[in-house]
Amino acid sequence: MIKPHGSDTLNPLYVEDDATRTALQAEAEGLPSLLLNSAAAANAVMMAGGYFNPLTGYMNKADALSVASDLKTTGGLFFPVPVLNLTQADDVATGRIALRDPNVDGHPVLAIMDVEAVETVSDEELRQMAEQIFGTLDDAHPGVSTFLSLGNTLLSGPIQVLNFSYFASDFPDTFRTAVEIRNEIAERGWNKTVAFQTRNPMHRAHEELCRMAQERLGADGIVIHMLLGKLKKGDIPADVRDNCIRTMVDHYFPPNTVMITGYGFDMLYAGPREAVLHALFRQNMGADYLIVGRDHAGVGDYYGAFDAQTIFDEQVPEGALDIEIFRADHTAYSKKLDRVVMMREAPDHAKEDFVLLSGTKVREMLGKGMAPPPEFSRPEVAKVLMDYYQSIQ
Ligand code: ADX
Repeated sequence: MIKPHGSDTLNPLYVEDDATRTALQAEAEGLPSLLLNSAAAANAVMMAGGYFNPLTGYMNKADALSVASDLKTTGGLFFPVPVLNLTQADDVATGRIALRDPNVDGHPVLAIMDVEAVETVSDEELRQMAEQIFGTLDDAHPGVSTFLSLGNTLLSGPIQVLNFSYFASDFPDTFRTAVEIRNEIAERGWNKTVAFQTRNPMHRAHEELCRMAQERLGADGIVIHMLLGKLKKGDIPADVRDNCIRTMVDHYFPPNTVMITGYGFDMLYAGPREAVLHALFRQNMGADYLIVGRDHAGVGDYYGAFDAQTIFDEQVPEGALDIEIFRADHTAYSKKLDRVVMMREAPDHAKEDFVLLSGTKVREMLGKGMAPPPEFSRPEVAKVLMDYYQSIQ
């Protein structure tokens, strides 16, 4: 099976042993506390599950600056985005502290951190990192505005994580750690696994991308791995997407060829950089390939349609990752051919006449109780979406 990134075995930061966890929980009650922001909490949950292997905690300033500019830590570890605990608090000292969860009522302890360094990151340094990670400084970009609002104090050091925040309780059937997915792939005996990243209900194009990747790669199975964390306003909530995906897989994929899973991370909308991060954590969960299609992890018009593919040629050094990407062209239903195809593969007589709908158009239709055409969305999926949109009118 494919090795994790940076080490021979996964080193998840969740404290597995019950007695140790209980002892740490008791210790935490006597420690100084820090209320995390959602981005730092999501980083902890990802490290807990082994997705950010081989990190042992939050990066310090030198590593953050180095990763933002050169995609590697000062020690030479390849990493596509800095993994940070930035805060607005100005009273944190080095030593052990309890990290509290902003996303769960009562702010329970999420992790204990050994704060090794407390460093100030200037506004100028934050903006420089933001530009390197997101390729823009436009504060209309949801990732940029979040990143620039986190704070100027950077806390670095190892963490021990005590739970999986709200993800394990809110999505018991779907949330999985990288360790669990790796184990399940091994149990199923899959030798070649392809992962599909998504933050959407899966429409026909998404479904066909998975099918094409599986067939062309000769993969044993597909791991649909959906984002369960925070999204920008207007995006579809995770429980609705989960329901759409389960409905689609039940109706249209043969049994035992698809694992439906999710992970607890907030969307960055960092386009190409996020695609590389996506590949890294799919390697950690045991996938051999990640599908990267059109405008992967993008938002608005900030990135070229295929920048998230070319970054793998231009900025990921040979051997930095073992996982490979499956490059997909813009995929849509061709009325002439009467099926979903990658546009560049359509024969000359069918180069036009595709069913293309923007996300905004689809949302408008659903809001009015109209189903998108079956060439765009499976009717079973459209029904789940219409029920949701009508419930929020
Ligand atoms: S993403 O932000 O998670 O990338 P989304 O869930 O829409 O958004 O896409 C999941 C994956 O499918 C990404 O790899 C994306 O590039 C790809 N994709 C989505 N729609 C299309 C399409 N019509 N053609 C080609 N690739 C697509």
